Amino acid sequence: MRSVIYSRIKGTGSYLPEKVLTNLDLEKMVDTTDQWITERTGIRQRHVAAENETTCDIAEKASRHAIAAAGLEPADIDLIIVATTTPDRIFPSTACLLQERLGIRGPAAFDVQAVCTGFVYALSIADKFIRTGSARNVLVVGAETLSRILDWSDRSTCVLFGDGAGAVVLEASEEMGIISSNLHADGRYKELLTVPHGISQGFDQLKESGGFIRMQGSEVFKVAVNTLGRLVDEALADNNLSQSDIDWLVPHQANIRIIQATAKKLKMPMDKVIVTVEKHGNTSAASVPLALDVAVRDGRIKRGETLLLEAFGGGFTWGSVLLKY
Ligand code: ACO
Repeated sequence: MRSVIYSRIKGTGSYLPEKVLTNLDLEKMVDTTDQWITERTGIRQRHVAAENETTCDIAEKASRHAIAAAGLEPADIDLIIVATTTPDRIFPSTACLLQERLGIRGPAAFDVQAVCTGFVYALSIADKFIRTGSARNVLVVGAETLSRILDWSDRSTCVLFGDGAGAVVLEASEEMGIISSNLHADGRYKELLTVPHGISQGFDQLKESGGFIRMQGSEVFKVAVNTLGRLVDEALADNNLSQSDIDWLVPHQANIRIIQATAKKLKMPMDKVIVTVEKHGNTSAASVPLALDVAVRDGRIKRGETLLLEAFGGGFTWGSVLLKY
């Protein structure tokens, strides 16, 4: 009888661009203060890609770290999924560009667009490919150069976001890894957080709006807190688990106050929550794998522990992945 195939995280990696932009730097650019940004968001600094540095560049670095941590070679990868809102080109996908960089030929490669929930979506898709026997070693990447779609004169958005990339290699295993995932979306919220123009509306509209992020911050905040609370309940109920069964919460890093509200709902002390928002800002699809890699490499997250990954973003989209690391 064929044994059950699980998908398990075999290696993690990440990369942050060298340039750091602090709140004090931002004070010189827009009408804001370090105090306002820190108190409202928990963010103290963020990384910003160099002028000629692209999403694929930083995705490649994170991917190579993850593949090495998994003890594999690029040639062992048989599927690449990249979650990004800031692709290098309209097409080919960033996953195809990354495949070429890594010197891999042939296996499927595609992008997933679910904004800040992109990595959680991509991980859930990769899990399904592995469980159905369609892939054995999947490279799952979240990579963003959000600095390119920020209006640097809009203080309500430019202080929140940063650039970065995180990656995992998910392998087929007889040992349990991903336990369950839940994905959701509700397009009725499309105007609350958006880059309002795209390709099919024509380039004139895109040029007019600048192609920048527009956000109704306090509305986003309210829906995010309510939704993430429900998401946590759903993941636990689906698996007959209680809050105390979770060793680590690895949340999307948008705002420390949103993270604290979700931890409270889980009755989880903040020292069991991985927080990187202070140093990274909101890196959208990269934020969960970046936080995961930081905590794996500094030794907090250990093999056999139970993790809840969760995210919320534009769409709105939201989702969680419960797994044994
Ligand atoms: N510096 C100083 N003042 C500012 C700044 C700034 N950078 N930005 C806005 N303000 C001002 C506003 O103009 C407003 O002034 P007013 O009262 O004179 O009109 C005042 O601060 C309060 O603005 P609010 O938007 O009500 O402030 P709030 O407490 O809601 O904090 C924030 C704003 C931080 C954006 C918060 O709403 C938030 O985090 N929302 C979630 C947004 C988010 O994380 N989006 C990312 C994607 S979705 C996700 O990942 C979850």
